[in-house]
Amino acid sequence: LSNQDQCNPHGQLRAHMDAAFASLPPAAVHGMPLDSVDTPALLLDLDAFERNLDRMQAAADAAGVQLRPHAKAHKCPAVALEQRARGAVGICCQKASEALPFLRAGITDIHISNQLASPDKAVMLARWAAAGARISACVDELSQIVALGNAAATSGSRLGVLVEIDIGQHRCGVPDADAVLHLLDAIARYPGLAFEGLQAYHGGVQHLRHQSERRSRSLQAAEQAASVRIALEQRGVRCTRVTGGGTGSVEFDLESGVYTEVQPGSYAFMDRDYADNESHGKLRFEHALFVASRVMSTAVAGQVVVDAGLKSLAVDSGLPTIRHPADQLRYAQANDEHGIVGPIDGARLPAQGTLLQLIPGHCDPTFNLHDELVGFRGDTVQCIWKIAARGLSR
Ligand SMILES: Cc1ncc(COP(=O)(O)O)c(C=O)c1O
Repeated sequence: LSNQDQCNPHGQLRAHMDAAFASLPPAAVHGMPLDSVDTPALLLDLDAFERNLDRMQAAADAAGVQLRPHAKAHKCPAVALEQRARGAVGICCQKASEALPFLRAGITDIHISNQLASPDKAVMLARWAAAGARISACVDELSQIVALGNAAATSGSRLGVLVEIDIGQHRCGVPDADAVLHLLDAIARYPGLAFEGLQAYHGGVQHLRHQSERRSRSLQAAEQAASVRIALEQRGVRCTRVTGGGTGSVEFDLESGVYTEVQPGSYAFMDRDYADNESHGKLRFEHALFVASRVMSTAVAGQVVVDAGLKSLAVDSGLPTIRHPADQLRYAQANDEHGIVGPIDGARLPAQGTLLQLIPGHCDPTFNLHDELVGFRGDTVQCIWKIAARGLSR
């Protein structure tokens, strides 16, 4: 504002308004008691999170398999840095744009575990590769190879290419070794493209509830991937990478001896849906992710209303459960900004202002609803991490 503006009444009002409207107070600050966090907020129990990371890394190391955690689960560079510090070789992203905040944070080994929907995205990837990043992407069709090949040629970079094979999910991927060979001919025409191997991911087995069924179906899918790899080898084609696997199958993917690299993401957080899987294997993970929500209304008898609804919690995999106070309350219904909470077996309802910790049904889309992740140990806030790739779905 000019001096003249500052002196006239309208100018003074503007200055006041500018100051008052400049920013929101932070939801949490370092050292604050957890109970004082402004809600809704996404919380990370750092102790449980670190144990999850350590367990996964130790299992991958013991099997001699590289861990490339999926960053679509969290979209948070600080999380990926923790995973890399423990031995992860890099990360997976599901979308090209999602990779950018991770590259900025210094994570430069990125696999796009997905097909690109348009040539513009290949241009982004090739530019990042030209700047020194190690980038690979999936293909299952000729036009994707043309886009990647042209982009790599234009920017003078090298892009890794993995052919995705369909091992039972029937989502993406070619059916057999002949189809892979057909695509390899096209890849070979582009000097900037390097065939690295196969992506073999089966989303359909991840949430099979019974451990024995999950194990047999995961091993069956891995065998299918192995048969394609062997058929390629018999025709002189070497796959240096076979990548796939998720939190529900990873124990069996490691056991299979087929994968050189695994891509689980949710293991670091354990949402409610994954915890509903029966597990008596060695590889167990703990709930580390919670949505903090406060009781905002107790006016209607027999229930309370909390301030986290659909805009703070993804419910595509079902409603959240409530960890605190445990086993006494049930999250019964999600509206846009309201959550209806009722008692279990006549338990006492919490008072206005009480902070509840909700275990979200599905961690990936829940992360995508929040700007920040509030890390805590015990009852104290330890860090606030930016969920920098939130919303980057191009
Ligand atoms: C290609 C791919 N890899 C890995 C994963 C594993 O993710 P999570 O461990 O979170 O289930 C997914 C999940 O959808 C995926 O689509």
